[in-house]
Amino acid sequence: MIAPDRDLKTPVFCALDTKDLSRATGLAAKLADTIGGFKLGLEFFSSQGPKGVKQIQKASDVPIFLDLKLNDIPNTVASAVRAVAPLGIYMLTVHINGGRAMMEAAAAAAADAAYEAVKARPLIVGVTVLTSFDDDDLAEVGVSNTLVDQVRRMAELAKRSGLDGVVCSPREVAMLRSDLGDGFKLVTPGVRPEWASVDDQKRFMTPLEAVSAGSDYLVIGRPITAAKDPPSAAARIVAEITPVELSTDDV
Ligand code: C5P
Repeated sequence: MIAPDRDLKTPVFCALDTKDLSRATGLAAKLADTIGGFKLGLEFFSSQGPKGVKQIQKASDVPIFLDLKLNDIPNTVASAVRAVAPLGIYMLTVHINGGRAMMEAAAAAAADAAYEAVKARPLIVGVTVLTSFDDDDLAEVGVSNTLVDQVRRMAELAKRSGLDGVVCSPREVAMLRSDLGDGFKLVTPGVRPEWASVDDQKRFMTPLEAVSAGSDYLVIGRPITAAKDPPSAAARIVAEITPVELSTDDV
C-alpha cells in the first residue's frame, strides 16, 4: 500500500470555503508558500467538482484535503473514493456512522485506486460526531451515549475499521490521543488564534494549544481567508506553532 509521501511544510490546512473558483485559485496562489495544504469541502466541490480541484492544484501545487464526508452503502462510497483518488489528494473524509463495512471499503478503494493511478494513497479520516450536535441532538437520533462517549466509541471504531484517523474538536484531542495512541491522525477544525475573530466557532483552542494537545493537522479558514492580508495571517499562525530553534550562540 502506498502511503501519502508528501511531507507537509506545516500542519496547517487552510479551508477554502467558497463556490467562487477565481477567489479560491487567487487565495491558493497567494498562500501556497506559507500553508501546508488546502481543505476543499462540499461547498467548493458541489459547485466546481474535480475540475475545480485540479485548478487549485495548478494554482498552488499544495496538498489537498477533500472534506466530502462520504456516507452511503459500502459499494457507493468505494466508487466515490475511486473516482476522487486519482486526483492525487492528501486526505479525504468519510462519516464513521456509515459503519465498519463502509469504512473498510473506503480504505481499500483508496489504496487500490491510488495504486492504479500511480498516486500516493490519500489518508482516509472519519467524522466522529458533527460539532453542531449536542447531547439532545444525539438522543433525538436514538443515541443514548453522552457526546464524549459517542466520540470515543466512533473514533475507536474508525481505527478498527482501517481508517488513518478522525476529525475531532481540539478539546477531544488529548483524550483520543491517549485512547488511540500515536500514529492515528487527529484532524482539528475549531482553531482560533488569540488575535482572530471567533466567528461561529464555540469550542475552540488556539493553534499552539491544539498542536500541544496532540493534533496532527489544523484546519483553519476565516482567520486566514477573511484577513486583510491572508498570507501574513497564515504566516503568523505558522510561526505560532513552529518551535523556536536555538542558535548555537544561545546555547
Ligand atoms: O473558518 P473556520 O476556521 O471556522 O473553518 C473551519 C472549517 O472546518 C470549515 O470548512 C468548517 O466547515 C470545517 N469544520 C468545522 N467544524 C467541524 C468540522 C468541519 O468547523 N466539526
